[in-house]
Amino acid sequence: MDKANELAWWQQTIAYEVYPKSFLDTVGQGTGTIAGITQKLDYLQKLGVGALWITPCYKSPMVDNGYDVQDYYAIDPSFGTMDDMDELIARGREHGIRVVMDLVFNHTSDQCTWFQASKESRDSEYADWYVWRDAKPDGSAPTNWRSIFGGSAWEWCEERGQYYLHTFAKQQPDLNWECDEVRKALFDIANYWADKGVGGFRIDAITYIKKPPVFEDGPADGEDGLYPVHAATANTPGILDFLHEFKAAVRDGRDIFMVGEANGVAADELDKWVGTDGVFDMLFEFSHTHVPMGEAEIWCRPVTWELADLKRALVASQRATATNGWYPAFFENHDQPRSTVNFFRCEGPLADKAKVLGAVLLTTRGTPFLYQGEELGFGNATWKSIDEFDDVQTRAQYDFAKGEGLSDAEALAACVRFSRDNARTPLQWDASENAGFSTAMPWLPVHDDYATCNVAAQEADPGSPLVWYRTLASLRAARPELIAGDWQELLSDDENVFAFERTLEDARTVTLTNFSDKNVEYDESLVAGLSVLAGSQGDATPGALRPLEAVIFG
Ligand code: GLC
Repeated sequence: MDKANELAWWQQTIAYEVYPKSFLDTVGQGTGTIAGITQKLDYLQKLGVGALWITPCYKSPMVDNGYDVQDYYAIDPSFGTMDDMDELIARGREHGIRVVMDLVFNHTSDQCTWFQASKESRDSEYADWYVWRDAKPDGSAPTNWRSIFGGSAWEWCEERGQYYLHTFAKQQPDLNWECDEVRKALFDIANYWADKGVGGFRIDAITYIKKPPVFEDGPADGEDGLYPVHAATANTPGILDFLHEFKAAVRDGRDIFMVGEANGVAADELDKWVGTDGVFDMLFEFSHTHVPMGEAEIWCRPVTWELADLKRALVASQRATATNGWYPAFFENHDQPRSTVNFFRCEGPLADKAKVLGAVLLTTRGTPFLYQGEELGFGNATWKSIDEFDDVQTRAQYDFAKGEGLSDAEALAACVRFSRDNARTPLQWDASENAGFSTAMPWLPVHDDYATCNVAAQEADPGSPLVWYRTLASLRAARPELIAGDWQELLSDDENVFAFERTLEDARTVTLTNFSDKNVEYDESLVAGLSVLAGSQGDATPGALRPLEAVIFG
């Protein structure tokens, strides 16, 4: 027990991500509210949640659902008020749940007063707060970089007579971290929220904050003649100096954690980012989500993969954080399609698939990050036309796919499979109209299956994903080796099974998960002397796994 208690609170707990727009609407407007999150603190506590990451709820024009921040010191009225947020932070603490804020520091909204002043004139106090460049002699954009969401990463600004850089949508201009005042303003914001008593921060899109010294065209990789901005600017040398300054200004001396979103940092680079010499407590790296989606995350480009590839990625992340740093384990977030679809190559019930992933997530080494609906085994939504999607990226990916020569139907199929909106449909609380999410028409449709796939129904069903997740959360809390123990892969050559053991002193737990639709046998001696702690399909037999079955021995 001592060994687990030596770890920080955020290493011992379970984190849960809320997408507030889709969590619970308490005012009948079709979009969720902060009061809705407060109302469900008991629900979260029963899942063992101790850290609650809320995606941005600051004042925003909502072009990218809050990732375009207009005012970091105000709550968007659609979510409620600052009092609602203070109440959530305070009531959360009473439930043993600390709120984790999302800091969007690579860019702001184009409606932010800083940008408004910056674009007005080159003499403004804010003139250098964003990344401005002159046009090429022919008037075209300074470089051929493609924004993450598609199209040029540059937007012309008539007032200033210059282009500004936007790594994401054109309404999300990039901040210029080279400017001392920018960094100070951002650190002040983080300290304001830390002083309010939040438990930590998730730092958005952090790998893009440092731009290269010289801006150059790169080789086109698509029919649009553009070069990915990611390749041009991500992880530019010098970025860690900025982040060390950030840590010293905000993190040091506080009992909080910082988890960075760092697409493009490979597992073998992790020690510069986390741990003793690192800047963050944890880092979301995406090597395992790249397996089904492809590294470039261009949805229309087909990817082939096998379980072996997923296993390799998961094992590499474990190894990279085995002795230094800490791993934030996740399969889903608000940018990924649902994991029940994403990480399986076989057919089969979504509930079984959700339980397999839950077994991995809640018994692996690291802090599990659940995403709303994952504990219910949500699948992707049903989309029939591109007009049904709300997401700015989905619409851009559709256009990109068409530009690559795909037909309407093929471009739509890519969006249906990979769209971020798959993760953003309302949470389903019960079988009433709109799944108990809202009394008004929800901003995105609830799933067709809401009458059976909802919290109330699953609470009453001992075989449901929700009950399974609760069982695993209790198991994790009761067995120190699941928190503090070492992690070792088992059955590494098995094509269908992902398996590992956790060991701490004399205690040993073995997790076996069958990702296939076949019956699988394994050497029984692997679990000799252990008994079944939990089986996703009820009883379990040592040496055999049913299709899509997960068993934990200890
Ligand atoms: C991150 C967020 C994503 C957002 C983007 C721009 O990747 O997770 O939702 O669109 O940054 O802020």
